[in-house]
Parts: sequence; structure tokens; C-alpha cells
Amino acid sequence: MNNFFQINLKNVTKNFEGLDVPVLKNLSFNINASEKVAILGSSGSGKSTLLHIIAGLDSPSDGKVLFNNLDMGNLSDNKMAKLRNQHIGFVYQSHHLLNDFSSIENVMMPLTVRRGDYLEDFNQAKKVLKKLGLGKRLNHFPHQLSGGERQRVAIARAMVTAPDLILADEPTGNLDHKNANLIFDSFLELADEFKTAIVLVTHDLSLAKKMKKNYLLASGKLKSN
Ligand SMILES: Nc1ncnc2c1ncn2[C@@H]1O[C@H](COP(=O)(O)OP(=O)(O)OP(=O)(O)O)[C@@H](O)[C@H]1O
Ligand SMILES: [Mg+2]
Repeated sequence: MNNFFQINLKNVTKNFEGLDVPVLKNLSFNINASEKVAILGSSGSGKSTLLHIIAGLDSPSDGKVLFNNLDMGNLSDNKMAKLRNQHIGFVYQSHHLLNDFSSIENVMMPLTVRRGDYLEDFNQAKKVLKKLGLGKRLNHFPHQLSGGERQRVAIARAMVTAPDLILADEPTGNLDHKNANLIFDSFLELADEFKTAIVLVTHDLSLAKKMKKNYLLASGKLKSN
């Protein structure tokens, strides 16, 4: 992993057809190595849109996004996909696991895409699953796991590559408060160990408080909270 990591959004505006006001309005924002950021905001304020733009899954209508000083707007889809695989992980509110694959197979997937060594990939996936308390669930399929366990597997899958950045969109939104906190704490521990930056979108103020910086997304702008 490269030690240098930075994403800069510069004057990003995002319009969607059918909406008369931009969802993001001339928004500038930086994410640095290991940084832990929470983004709050009401439903429809543009939080998921912002994460998609940070990850290069969607492009700004105006302005640009720099990844390590590289303009993401100039990258081919292939290059962008490779960059994501190497540097960025995602965790969504619902787990998006592949139902026909076991926990360990799901977690190995981002490593398999890189065509690495099977045994090394297996051991790395096992290590991360163990850290998240799933050492005894390696061969279980998603339907054999509780909601919280499935979310842990999804977190393990996002973390297994030791990415520079994880974008987490309501990662514990389906869980009760106590479980959400427990799972989030092990997520943060792992992120500290891997020096992974986190941008967390959440409605849960107690999770947001665990992050170094809090922002509110409103009227297309991020404000320090
Ligand atoms: N592909 C799209 N086409 C048109 N409009 C879109 C598209 N994606 C999002 N929007 C609109 O942009 C606005 C912001 O959506 P977004 O999903 O980013 O909100 P959010 O803050 O994540 O909300 P929530 O908290 O409910 O998840 C909404 O009004 C939504 O309808
Ligand atoms: Mg959303």
C-alpha cells in the first residue's frame, strides 16, 4: 500500500435530470490518509450521491475529483475500476453479499479479482473475519447468518484489501443500537490497524461522535458540525 493517500473534491456540482436544484452545489472537500469522517444529513440531501462521486461510480456535472492528485474524470472505466479495487472499499446498509458463496468466499472475492495466490488470499480473509468475531462462521452462507453477522462479513469484504478508504453508507442501519455500536467499534479498530480512512454516512449520532470530524450535508453543501 502506498503511504500517500488523498482525495480532493474541487467545486463539485451534481445535477440530476428532473431535479430543478443541484443535489451537490460547488462542494469542496478533502479526505486524508487514516482520517475518520462522518456525514449527517436528512433523507434526500445527497449523501449517497456524494459517496458515489468520491468513489468515481458517478461523475460530477461540474468540478472535479482528484485521487492522489490524479483527475478521476480523465480515467477510463477500466482504470477507475482497478483504482477502486486497489484503494477503496464499500459497505452499504444492506449487505450485498453473494448468497451462493460462503462467508470466506465472499470476503476473498476482492482479492480473487486481483488473481493473487489462493492460500494467501484465504489466510488474509480468515484473519479479517476472525478479527470481526466470525472465526467460527467461515463456511456459513449468508442465509445461515444473523443480520449483524452478515454486516460483519460485508465489512470484512470491504476491509480485506486493507484499502486506503472505506465509504460506508449506513453500514449498521439495519441493526439495533447495541449491535450497531459493537460492530462499528470492531470496524474502527480494524481501520486503525490498516490505516484506512473512513467516510461514514449515518443517522446515528452516537456513531458519528466516534469519528474525528462531523459534517452536515444540507442545501448541496457540507458544513462542519
Ligand atoms: N440517478 C438518479 N437520477 C435522478 N435523481 C437522483 C438519482 N440519484 C439520486 N437522485 C436524487 O438526488 C437526491 C439525493 O439522493 P441521495 O440518494 O444522494 O440522498 P441521500 O442523502 O443518500 O438520502 P437517504 O438518507 O434517504 O439515503 C434525491 O432527491 C434523489 O431523488
Ligand atoms: Mg442514501
